[in-house]
Amino acid sequence: MRIQAAISASAQAPFEIAEVELDDPRGDEVLVELRAVGVCHSDLTMKAVWPEAISPIVLGHEGAGVVAAVGADVTSVRPGDHVVLSYRSCGACPQCAAGHPPYCRDFRTLNGIGSRPDGSPTMRRNGSRVYGSYFGQSSFASHALAYESNVVVVGEEIDLGVAAPLGCGVQTGAGTVLNVLAPSPDASLIVFGAGGVGLSAVMAASASGVGTIIAVDPVTSRRRLAAELGASATIDPSADVVAEIRRLTGAGASHAIDTTAKGAVINQAIEALAPLGTLALVGIHVPEFALDVQSVMSGGKTIRGVIEGDAVPRDLIPRLVALHGEGRLPVEKLIRRYDFEDIDVAFADAASGKTVKPVLEFDLNSV
Ligand SMILES: NC(=O)c1ccc[n+]([C@@H]2O[C@H](COP(=O)([O-])OP(=O)(O)OC[C@H]3O[C@@H](n4cnc5c(N)ncnc54)[C@H](O)[C@@H]3O)[C@@H](O)[C@H]2O)c1
Ligand SMILES: [Zn+2]
Ligand SMILES: [Zn+2]
Repeated sequence: MRIQAAISASAQAPFEIAEVELDDPRGDEVLVELRAVGVCHSDLTMKAVWPEAISPIVLGHEGAGVVAAVGADVTSVRPGDHVVLSYRSCGACPQCAAGHPPYCRDFRTLNGIGSRPDGSPTMRRNGSRVYGSYFGQSSFASHALAYESNVVVVGEEIDLGVAAPLGCGVQTGAGTVLNVLAPSPDASLIVFGAGGVGLSAVMAASASGVGTIIAVDPVTSRRRLAAELGASATIDPSADVVAEIRRLTGAGASHAIDTTAKGAVINQAIEALAPLGTLALVGIHVPEFALDVQSVMSGGKTIRGVIEGDAVPRDLIPRLVALHGEGRLPVEKLIRRYDFEDIDVAFADAASGKTVKPVLEFDLNSV
């Protein structure tokens, strides 16, 4: 079928919105008519570093929409279901079997090679292949082909524009708190970077009753939002961050999350931890840097990498929808809505810090 897609040809080129031909769903595929898609910082990074050899590509991995058709082997979703799209996993490897699908043996093949795992393209433009299958969705488009492992049915009570970022950014921040760090009410959590992921961590920590939640971010409006969402203190990184955290926590923090992907900030986070504290690394594409091993060793500290909040989307996303329904995860406060056509503006606003979580919406009359 013919769909509209935002095509990225190179790092510098703006998106081109064009008509492409999308395959009919294969037996294991789910055709989703997208209503909204969030912009995650990973989309910005991927647009900048995606290899030209597998371009042009349709990115986008926080889609939400309505199921339009399903392949013959699909049993868990039906046309008409409202769905949030997340990352794909194989369901059979040791990590998937153990309930940790973000560390799936086939994660890259299923989410990041620009085509189906068998190498076939899902999209063509004037007969030439367009790369896609990004996170098993490529949802910067009016329609996406997804899979049972990355389609999560949500009730019609949640606005799909609010639900879209649950598929990656919110799941990552909230899951890192709820699934991985699990701080108790007397814990202290420092969140470095109050963007979509960091603020989701703040909201989840606040919903969990964590007593001390400190958000660090250079953007004043983001610090203000962190405080509104439950941070007990915020710090501008132009201050002496470690001294300020010590002043607020005494011995240092029991838990920290890095969403900045900056070596200097990661070392700050390690230094700000109390002995036996844990740092979760969430920011991606961290440049090489010298890790403060001495502080890790002498303090018995743990550094833990986290992908997608170590979450099983089908378990965590409904929990997040429920928390949202109770007013304890007010994702809408992070969101600014853009027409799909304004994707370049949305990217620029995410990069500048003006918008925490851009959500692109589709004009149903134009597709
Ligand atoms: N691990 C995963 O599975 C996963 C999933 C989603 C996103 N990510 C990654 O997480 C990171 C955050 O994503 P996001 O969408 O929240 O991005 P974002 O750009 O909205 O947030 C990053 C924040 O860091 C702040 N920052 C910059 N320098 C800082 C400093 N010195 N100290 C404190 N804060 C500083 C920025 O102002 C910004 O608010 C990105 O690297 C993204 O690619 C990882
Ligand atoms: Zn697997
Ligand atoms: Zn993401």
